Amino acid sequence: MLLYLLGLVVFYYLYRWVRELPRVPDKGSKYVYITGCDTGFGNLLARHLDKKGFRVIAACFTEKGEEDLKKSCSGNLITTHLNVTSKESVAKAAAMIKDKVGERGLWAVVNNAGVSVPSAPCDWLTIDDYKSMLDVNLNGVIAVTLSVLPLIKKAKGRVVNVASVFGRISVTGGPYTVSKYGVEAFNDSLRLNLKPFGVKVLCIEPGFFKTNVTDTEILSRNVKMLWDRLPQEVRDDYGIKYLNSALNIMADKIPKMSDGDLMKVVSCMEHAVSAVQPRTRYSPGWDAKLFWLPLSYMPARFTDYLMSINAPPIAKQQQQ
Ligand SMILES: *[C@@H]1O[C@H](CO)[C@@H](O)[C@H](O)[C@H]1NC(C)=O
Ligand SMILES: *[C@@H]1O[C@H](CO)[C@@H](O)[C@H](O)[C@H]1NC(C)=O
Ligand SMILES: *[C@@H]1O[C@H](CO)[C@@H](O)[C@H](O)[C@H]1NC(C)=O
Repeated sequence: MLLYLLGLVVFYYLYRWVRELPRVPDKGSKYVYITGCDTGFGNLLARHLDKKGFRVIAACFTEKGEEDLKKSCSGNLITTHLNVTSKESVAKAAAMIKDKVGERGLWAVVNNAGVSVPSAPCDWLTIDDYKSMLDVNLNGVIAVTLSVLPLIKKAKGRVVNVASVFGRISVTGGPYTVSKYGVEAFNDSLRLNLKPFGVKVLCIEPGFFKTNVTDTEILSRNVKMLWDRLPQEVRDDYGIKYLNSALNIMADKIPKMSDGDLMKVVSCMEHAVSAVQPRTRYSPGWDAKLFWLPLSYMPARFTDYLMSINAPPIAKQQQQ
């Protein structure tokens, strides 16, 4: 019986593997617009798809990002400046893309640009902190998608959204998980609304990987800045031990937890863009598959308890 079950499982994976192998033809006439190509996943994906023969339109936030990419890619790759929080910048990029792709339309947009700070307990933050991140991670994704949606419908193309396992479970404070839950909701409504037009919507939910989102330096500089800004009363609530322990986790645990093999995520992105039968959801990283996603199905009481075990000590912790 057990052998029989095992056989079924093996058969299922084999079947899926074969089904997911074929790639779309005519890569050389398919345009792919990627946001956040300065570093990290976006940068690697731009190079990877360029090598595979796609026409990549790589949007960067910095001039240096554009220059570096141009140097290491084929002459087919186009770069453009993009500030996803600026209406004008999003519209300007969309106009340039419309001009380039013409009647073929746009094959795919990959919404990859994102930031990870400010991140801290909710009572350390102001509404402007929330807005600053939501403007990039959520409103930026929506703005960029809407700006090129007519072109994507024309090509019966794809929207690939980079969310996070923290769009499925919220174990930190601050706007990051709020923004990623929002991306998941946007992804779901988009999928429903665009299916009639032959447009596919795919979502990538990476675990911890070594990018600027998990960069110790960036995260801890931000937490120190937020701490210095706190009213004395809130600092007393948490205590200096809390700060030091949180900084330790950032310096020690996050780098250990983060996977350095960014290609795991980039391969999923490539599959989402180019497979004939893409998956609707990808969860690259062992931590995502084996820890965060299973955890997201557990009762809140259990996840809260698990998260409290290793949490930094709070000075004025109340007995419950
Ligand atoms: C991005 O756009 C926003 C909104 O227009 C603007 O406030 C911000 O300064 C811009 N950022 C950069 C670096 O240009
Ligand atoms: C995003 O859309 C896909 C279908 O295109 C869906 O299967 C998936 O569940 C959605 N992703 C998330 C993370 O909600
Ligand atoms: C983070 O960003 C900086 C500057 O934008 C870049 O030099 C660095 O390589 C990035 N780090 C990672 C891990 O992508």
